This record gives sequence, C-alpha cells and structure tokens, in this order.
Amino acid sequence: MKISLPEGWRLIFKGETKSTNEDVKNLPVGSDKTAICAEFQSEGRGRTGRRWVSPKGNLFVSLCLELGDLNRSEIYSFLSAVALTDAIEKVCPGIGIKCKWPNDLLVEGKKISGILLETDGVGRLIVGIGVNIAAFPENNMLYPATSLAECGFSVTKEALLKELLYQFDLWQKRLSDEGKKTILDAWRQKAYGLGKKIVVRLPDQNMEGVFAGLDNDGRLLLNKDGKLCEISVGDVFFGSAKRNENG
Ligand code: BTN
Repeated sequence: MKISLPEGWRLIFKGETKSTNEDVKNLPVGSDKTAICAEFQSEGRGRTGRRWVSPKGNLFVSLCLELGDLNRSEIYSFLSAVALTDAIEKVCPGIGIKCKWPNDLLVEGKKISGILLETDGVGRLIVGIGVNIAAFPENNMLYPATSLAECGFSVTKEALLKELLYQFDLWQKRLSDEGKKTILDAWRQKAYGLGKKIVVRLPDQNMEGVFAGLDNDGRLLLNKDGKLCEISVGDVFFGSAKRNENG
C-alpha cells in the first residue's frame, strides 16, 4: 500500500496479523507517529476485553504516539473520534456520522467504527482504530452495527487511511495550539443522543438517566433524577444490548 502521508509519519502495512495494537507495542522505542495497518486480524481486540471481528475489506490500523506523559492521554479518546469522523465525512460526503461516548462512531444509531486506546510501559499511547468499510458482524453484537458499504458508500481503504492520518495530524496540532477545550467542543458538536435516555453499564452496576453532555475532562454527564453524575468509564446504551462482539 503506497499512500502520501503527513510530514513525520510512517506507515507499515501487513497482510495478516493477530492485532495491530499488539504490533505497535512491539515497535522499538523511537517509533512516534508510526501507523501499522493490516489486511486481516486473527485476534482483533475491542474495548473491555471484547473481540473485534476483523474480516478482509475493513480498516484495521494502530497509531504509535510517544507522548511520554500519559497523564494527558485521555483527550486522545476524543481527538481520535473527531479526527476519524472528519476523515469519514471527507471520503463519504453527507454520511451524517455522530460520536457516541467515549469514542464510538455511529451512522443512524448504528456502530460503524471502534477505537481502542492502550498504553505500554514506556510512555506510549496506542490508538487502535477499526472501521467497517465493507462488512460488519451481524450476530453476537453488543450494539447494532453497519458499514460504509451498507450506507451506500464505496470507499477504498487507502483513501480512508490517508485521510485519517492527515486529520489525526491536524487535530494533534490543534490540541497543541489551542488546548483540549477545542477537541471537546468539536466532539460535543458531533455528539449522538444529547438529551436522550441512556443506560450506562459500569463494572459493578447499571445507571439510568439522561445524557447531559461532557464535562471539561471528557467525563460523561448523566442526569439522574435531577442530579448530575460524572462517569469516567462505562458502556452507553440507547436501546437494549446484550451481546459481545464488535460492541
Ligand atoms: C471497540 O471495542 O469499539 C474498539 C475496537 C477497536 C478495534 C481496532 S482494529 C485495529 C486495532 N487492533 C485491535 O486489535 N483493535 C483495534
């Protein structure tokens, strides 16, 4: 795969691999702004230990960011979602993509992409991105899903990846020039389901309320019987959801 890249970026393309996030962890130190993209993943990972079904034709890419100070890495959850939203909108004009907290992308309420952020022991943030270009698993899903193809868009992996890396680079520059409020405001503008009833599944309980927005650290604000609760980690459901893959 040969595509033009933003300055300072490097792309490694693989045929089959277990997980591109794992591949990034194995890169030598000094690999900032390296992206690894694979044709197919045999052990694709999703959030909270779930599996990410990874058929050929979809996009699987992981970015290596050597941030050093990982205390400031949480904003990347939102930066990645905003950059990916912009990239998809560029290659699929009019698709109408929305962000679901913290970093899923939806079209008409159905999940089209997932982002998995991981860290390693040497100050690196790994941003793993999966986009359903051609296909989506129809069974055993936590959330309803769709693909760019099902939405009527024929997109090459190369075109989407190139746009993603340019948008990611641009939003990183905006973060460093303007600060995290710019990123959170951009995410808020694209937010799915503001004012809707949601259920947040936490490790130990479910909480029901109304989605009231984001606080200035990116925590979800849940209006529960008139009281605002701040939530840092959890799965958000707008409808019922029960199962486990590509969720
Ligand atoms: C989610 O659960 O929504 C996150 C899914 C993230 C999937 C991507 S595909 C590329 C990268 N490699 C992986 O093993 N997972 C991420």
